[in-house]
Amino acid sequence: MLEEIKKTAAFVAAATGDFRPEVGIILGTGLGDFADTIEAEYTLEYKDIPGFPVSTVEGHKGRLIFGRIEGRKVVAMQGRFHYYEGYPMSQVTFPVRVMKLLGIRYLFVSNASGGINPSFRTGDLMIITDHINLMPNPLIGPNMAELGPRFPDMHNCYDRELIARATKIAETEGIKLQYGVYVGGTGPTFETQAEYRYFKAIGGDAAGMSTVPEVIVARHMSVPVFGVSVITNCGLSDEAGDHEDVQRQGRKAGVRMAVLFREMIKNL
Ligand code: HPA
Repeated sequence: MLEEIKKTAAFVAAATGDFRPEVGIILGTGLGDFADTIEAEYTLEYKDIPGFPVSTVEGHKGRLIFGRIEGRKVVAMQGRFHYYEGYPMSQVTFPVRVMKLLGIRYLFVSNASGGINPSFRTGDLMIITDHINLMPNPLIGPNMAELGPRFPDMHNCYDRELIARATKIAETEGIKLQYGVYVGGTGPTFETQAEYRYFKAIGGDAAGMSTVPEVIVARHMSVPVFGVSVITNCGLSDEAGDHEDVQRQGRKAGVRMAVLFREMIKNL
């Protein structure tokens, strides 16, 4: 596995003139438009990268964009891999490990989720302060000691300092923020009403189907993480979950998320 990761990283480095990004960004459902705000220098389709899986979900493009935001070198994943698509966790998290080998020092993640906290509204941005993992742990199996420890610490999983900076920026920019715990389930079903109540009871504020595996793998490699979730539906309401609605809400909130990410990256 480690050899494959290294091989892919070497391929990507060669294909991008050894670009060496500082920040890795994962763009979730409906948030792909953010990629247009990157001054792109190199774009690689996942299908052209040896070792990369190929994204199957509607609304997810599949490419890596290398470029600059406010002068800082970033690599953005436009489209991610989900466990519910049938990929093993090693594949879901493969790009994060490759990005680390390419040099990233921060990982910014975004996703769409269903709000469980009754004070949340559709379209809110939630800063992820912690998570509860209800998927298989991506670190199960032989430990890649070259990348990180057997038993990684998960305190401060979402970097406190980055969260504090986001709070300041949001105040300056007039962006309303919520804060909360992201519960990562496998999907692909949206939760039953009883499951949303269960997620709330165990301490969750929002429910989603991604992010947690990538964050665990990033923390294994000691990469600081900043995570934002767009609340696209309210789980405890009577409304049914709907993928098109999720995409629409994601795109709307994506404008505010883009301001937040841009300002954060400028000030790293
Ligand atoms: N549950 C799980 N994942 C989601 C939801 C939800 O309600 N909304 C958007 N992604």
